[in-house]
Amino acid sequence: TGGVTTIDPGYKNTGSCESAITFLNGEKGILRYRGYSIEELAEKADFLEVAYLLIFGELPTREKLDKFYTDIKKQAVVDEDIKKILDAFPKTAHPMGVLSSLTSALTAFNPSSVNVESEEDMYNAIVKIMGKFPVLVAWTLRKKQGLPLDYGDKSLGYVENVLKMMFKEPNEEYTQNPILVNALDKLLILHADHEQNCSTSTVRIVGSSHAGLFASLSAGISALWGPLHGGANQAVLEMLEGIKADGGDTKKYMAKAKDKDDPFRLMGFGHRVYKNFDPRAKIIKKSADDVLDQLGVEDPILAIAKGLEKEALEDSYFVDRKLYPNVDFYSGIIYRGMGIPTDMFTVMFALGRLPGWIAQWREMRLQKEPIGRPRQVYVGENHRPFKDISER
Ligand code: SDX
Repeated sequence: TGGVTTIDPGYKNTGSCESAITFLNGEKGILRYRGYSIEELAEKADFLEVAYLLIFGELPTREKLDKFYTDIKKQAVVDEDIKKILDAFPKTAHPMGVLSSLTSALTAFNPSSVNVESEEDMYNAIVKIMGKFPVLVAWTLRKKQGLPLDYGDKSLGYVENVLKMMFKEPNEEYTQNPILVNALDKLLILHADHEQNCSTSTVRIVGSSHAGLFASLSAGISALWGPLHGGANQAVLEMLEGIKADGGDTKKYMAKAKDKDDPFRLMGFGHRVYKNFDPRAKIIKKSADDVLDQLGVEDPILAIAKGLEKEALEDSYFVDRKLYPNVDFYSGIIYRGMGIPTDMFTVMFALGRLPGWIAQWREMRLQKEPIGRPRQVYVGENHRPFKDISER
């Protein structure tokens, strides 16, 4: 058999590690970061506080949080040569491909971030990427739009400054609108970690070879890009736009989603772990209503999304398979209401997931996990002699 006798495609029933970071209960729709419920954190904490909690295990005191942000701000610059790499991309490049490339390129300008044996070295690599990643996210958007790149305003908070770097035009006050800041802060918290999902498992296995943190994160960004994973938030909006263009004909898309011969899936529905409502989707659905109301945005797409959700929740195909809306179903509607282009939605997911990836990588390194190397059941050819090309 070449190693083992049974396999577990997609690791549906395989535990890859012991972790103390995030707890999920799929049957009950429970999500907790370091023991705190996602509902409380989304309501009472801010994103940088949650990032600290995920990475270091405790909610920070005021002075610890201030020091964390001060150390991050010191690192919130990137080598000017990064702009030359950014310049080499066509404007049509997908932002996730740009972001994973630039994240990996950071290693070239920060070689000390690779060999991180001590906790101090790890901390230094962590504050580096926490500072530089938002810059790369903002510059990826600005480059696409042909707009100038800058570092925003360091007197602002972490999330405020992301908005400041992403949107300066057409009006300054847009970026400081507390509705936008609170909406983005909450969305980033809701995306911050999710135990051993596809991209986090990727970060852990790449990091297990002792490749550097930035290289491991770059691999995670690539995994998140897929439409079955983080790329679903973009695919949901494209699906909803398609339904709108079809005159709101949700029944046609429901039929496609149930047709075994049709590869189309109802994007934003279903989950490997949640066999109940994704608790994040509940919070985001309510937030979508609030944010669009507060911004005075009338988006017919929201009504289509709610109609589709209602239909799916009453359809036996989806009910029997316990397919509920997941985190990606409503998030894109808010990003769009905030003026973020559709192909940037998964980049925003990556910005939120960054502290989770970092926390999981740090835990894996501190636990001195062995290099990830699964086995297989061999089903190929038996031993056979070489055949000269003249005989083939
Ligand atoms: C994220 O893992 C995480 O935690 C991920 C994430 C995170 O925070 O990191 O939560 C973020 O990635 C959320 C998921 C975003 N993806 C999508 O919305 C894409 C659409 N969803 C599906 O592709 C699917 O539901 C997955 C990928 C999310 C889960 O797939 P599984 O667990 O491998 O389930 P499966 O493919 O085995 O499906 C089980 C059944 C199948 O039907 P049968 O073969 O039993 O007849 O349900 C069907 C599937 O065909 N099915 C769907 C469906 N999802 C599953 N049918 C139609 N539409 C769907 N969306």
